[in-house]
Amino acid sequence: MKIPSIFVGCGPFGLQRLRVLIENTNFLPVACVDKNTSDVKKRLKNDKVTKKLNLHHNVFPSIGQAIKNKKAKVCFIFVAADQHANLITQSLKNNLHTYCVKPIAINKKEFKSIYLLIKKKKNLQFLQGYNNQWNEAAIHMYKAINEQKIIGKIIGGQCVCWGRQNLSLSPPHIEVKKSGMFFLALACHQLSQLVAIKGLPEYVTSYVHKKVDKDIGQLGVFGTSGGQCIFEYQGKIPFTYTGTRAAHGNPYGFASRWSGQWIIHGEKGDLKRDGGRITIFKNGQVISDNFLKDLDNNLLKDEETQFLKFYEMIKLSNNKKNSLKKIHEDSMNTWILMEACNESAKLNKKISVKNFKKKLLGKRL
Ligand SMILES: NC(=O)c1ccc[n+]([C@@H]2O[C@H](COP(=O)([O-])OP(=O)(O)OC[C@H]3O[C@@H](n4cnc5c(N)ncnc54)[C@H](O)[C@@H]3O)[C@@H](O)[C@H]2O)c1
Repeated sequence: MKIPSIFVGCGPFGLQRLRVLIENTNFLPVACVDKNTSDVKKRLKNDKVTKKLNLHHNVFPSIGQAIKNKKAKVCFIFVAADQHANLITQSLKNNLHTYCVKPIAINKKEFKSIYLLIKKKKNLQFLQGYNNQWNEAAIHMYKAINEQKIIGKIIGGQCVCWGRQNLSLSPPHIEVKKSGMFFLALACHQLSQLVAIKGLPEYVTSYVHKKVDKDIGQLGVFGTSGGQCIFEYQGKIPFTYTGTRAAHGNPYGFASRWSGQWIIHGEKGDLKRDGGRITIFKNGQVISDNFLKDLDNNLLKDEETQFLKFYEMIKLSNNKKNSLKKIHEDSMNTWILMEACNESAKLNKKISVKNFKKKLLGKRL
């Protein structure tokens, strides 16, 4: 049976996800929440997919109002990042399973309060959406390394993501005006895949790029344009990352680079990935060379796969299936790693991720 759900944030990106939920999942949106109710009612009335569900008659300015009028079990959140923590809190307090697009928090204080609330609400499922993990190429890389163990134990690696993303808006976009948003909102798309494959490193040393480029909205705010870091995994295993949204690469659209270019060295072989192309080498030979589907147009298929995982998390929550628990934990750990990158860059030193996590979730911040 379809699960009645509330959908928050009906902007262009949100509306695309709302259609995916209606057409391709077992969630049934019964109400929408948007602070701009009058525009959203018109938008939903003019949309063939949302009109069928009469959603334009069920638009509310807050989650509280929506839940008073409509019965729902789940809440999806797709608004600007600085609103996420507040909306997640409202959603969980109204006892709704909650899915929120990344990043769920824009600072340590917000993250801690959400984290503690999630722990308290043991019967509710929570997922931070990191859609880049779910395309064919990303899944193939994960399975080759973690399940088939084709390259053996990882002994080192690197990931690169570069492109030019126009974020100029008036007033400025949150991702160029709030410090640390490069790691929290962009690097997370590549590094959530690393966390899924290899978990959290022991240490991180990180730097940020200082770029001012008004043409693409880069105002020079700390940690908003790009960054580089070295992760050190247990046993002194290095993994490096370089990413930027303010460079000159990629004439084919920024999103096509979000999957990342990867080289991962293992004890038994090496894996090279450029977006959707994954090549595996062993003993000086190419043993496989696959061209797979990378990010879907507008990331729709990627989001759909993640919605389906979230559905499974809700349906199978009593079974405590480990692979589903891992999806939730990886999504939380990705936020922690991204903020550890910001912390290392701010403090200008190598930091222990374990200590950072402990302090982050401890009594005092
Ligand atoms: N790859 C990705 O995962 C990816 C890509 C693009 C955007 N995003 C995320 O999706 C979000 C939504 O994108 P968009 O283009 O639809 O944004 P948008 O800003 O155009 O629309 C957001 C909508 O939410 C509403 N809103 C804002 N604050 C609210 C609040 N507190 N309560 C209720 N409604 C509120 C606004 O009125 C608006 O209709 C972005 O901010 C970003 O975080 C993710």
